[in-house]
Amino acid sequence: MSTSSQLHVAIVMDGNGRWAVERGLPRIAGHRQGAQAVHDIVAAAPGLGVTALTIFAFSTENWKRPPDEVSYILQLFVSMVTKWLPELISQHVRVRIIGDRAALPGDVSASVEAIEKRTAFCDGLHLNVALNYGGRAEILLAAKTFAAECAAGTAAPEDLTEDRFDSYLWLRGEVPPDIVVRTGAESRVSNFLLWEMAYAELFFLDVLWPDFTPATLDMIVHKFKSRNRRFGGS
Ligand code: IPE
Ligand code: IPE
Ligand code: MG
Repeated sequence: MSTSSQLHVAIVMDGNGRWAVERGLPRIAGHRQGAQAVHDIVAAAPGLGVTALTIFAFSTENWKRPPDEVSYILQLFVSMVTKWLPELISQHVRVRIIGDRAALPGDVSASVEAIEKRTAFCDGLHLNVALNYGGRAEILLAAKTFAAECAAGTAAPEDLTEDRFDSYLWLRGEVPPDIVVRTGAESRVSNFLLWEMAYAELFFLDVLWPDFTPATLDMIVHKFKSRNRRFGGS
């Protein structure tokens, strides 16, 4: 549970392809416009009280897409990181990538390393970018890491607590998301933050991701504040 001064928003940014198709454009035009929406949301988030923002950019299942689209999405990440890095640093944004980076192409993992290293000392917004991320993969990795410690004799099964399990996750150290948003008119979580979203407030929006604006985020934060979170209490 986060303290009142922390607000973690996680977003499944869906609907880029449909946004483009509706305009008679190739799907990649939707990804490009979606990247612009990311830029604007990152800039606006701290002013809306958001202290951590976790965005789903590419899932472990998205490799099923045509190779051209996969490579466009990954290269878009590289070019945006390069372009936005000075601005992110001036905004004190600390960027972390969550996901299986071993399977990423070399230039993409080099960009991942660079952006994390260059923003590691920033003390503002925590921006977590889920890239080649899957919630089940994250849980499996945690289970394997703990199992390996048990096999090595440095841990015993009864040592495992929720806090310790958290420490094996890619998103370790972050408060759990208070809000999970999915755009694109689908009511599913598509393998995002399965462990972490246990008590998140969910928002499913009809808006396609490229049309998501700071005003949309503002509306969600306001609605969130009027929700009654009970965490199982009465
Ligand atoms: C979300 O938009 C972006 C990624 C999954 C990378 P989509 O590309 O899934 O857009 P739709 O759902 O096909 O409209
Ligand atoms: C979820 O969107 C993944 C990202 C936003 C990166 P998808 O478009 O891949 O999800 P499904 O296929 O509709 O479940
Ligand atoms: Mg989609």
